[in-house]
Amino acid sequence: ASVLVINGPNLNLLGTREPDVYGSITLKDIEDTVRTYGDRLTIKTDFFQSNVEGELVAAIQNAAGEFDGIILNAAAYTHTSIALMDAIKATGIPTIEVHLSNVFAREEFRHHSYISPVATGVICGFGAKGYVLAMDALADIFDV
Ligand code: DQA
Repeated sequence: ASVLVINGPNLNLLGTREPDVYGSITLKDIEDTVRTYGDRLTIKTDFFQSNVEGELVAAIQNAAGEFDGIILNAAAYTHTSIALMDAIKATGIPTIEVHLSNVFAREEFRHHSYISPVATGVICGFGAKGYVLAMDALADIFDV
């Protein structure tokens, strides 16, 4: 089985970006952890980050037939992007929505997600651990 981990805008800055909200772990640290965890589960992992909405749409489209699952932290596009929602719907690949922070404990505009209605499930508020929890969830779905 295989999983594509997609991170959206500003997540390339993890480590220095608002560490009080997002912690001091870098995106590379998260990706290394998920890759190692995937190896243990015998799930192949690949990683993509972009600050550009259309590139994220393309990554989801291109995942069709290539990956069995997607872990998506769409960051701010979570709250704005019908295009990402439609892309997930179009591919039909099981997608776990992840957020580092508990978006429901934050500003009102972070409470709505265009991704959640088309996601298999949502994990938020557990920091980088959320990506590992999402791998466990997909492992159950794949039955590996
Ligand atoms: C985030 C939450 C979003 O509201 C925010 O725009 C982000 C990161 C998170 O991981 O907590 O950039 O997706």
